Amino acid sequence: MKLAISCDHGAYELKESIKKHLDEKGIEYKDFGCYSKDSVDYPRFAYIAAKAVADKEYDFGIICCTTGLGVSMAANKVKGVRAAVCTNEMLAEMTRRHNNANVICMGQNVVSQELADKMIDIFISTEFEGGRHQRRVDLLTDIENGTLE
Ligand code: RB5
Repeated sequence: MKLAISCDHGAYELKESIKKHLDEKGIEYKDFGCYSKDSVDYPRFAYIAAKAVADKEYDFGIICCTTGLGVSMAANKVKGVRAAVCTNEMLAEMTRRHNNANVICMGQNVVSQELADKMIDIFISTEFEGGRHQRRVDLLTDIENGTLE
């Protein structure tokens, strides 16, 4: 299991606490920045981690900003990425089971560090259900490719 993680300045502290959690659990990850609380543009940091997931260099992405919203919009523009903003444990579970999400997005001003850790544990350990959900995820890919009829 290898994770790609990134954030903007608005979630620098959350990303650092997530790294500590992953270190404690012995989960491998690459930190794609940002590396301080200096102001940066969230699309760049969302893109670099999301692209690494889309390129299959990493199993999942964890991408954070102040709200989780901007980074999710940026990540979802990368082909092959299904990014979900999660604010509770049920969402972290369901977006894996039904949407086969490969990126979880969170907001530092929205979730506690403890909840973020719990959602990550759930997200990376929950299997996609497939079946009828595969058909629906395939339709998402059709939208992405402009081939949905
Ligand atoms: C940065 O100020 C803030 O806009 C960003 O962290 C994010 O919440 C955007 O959606």
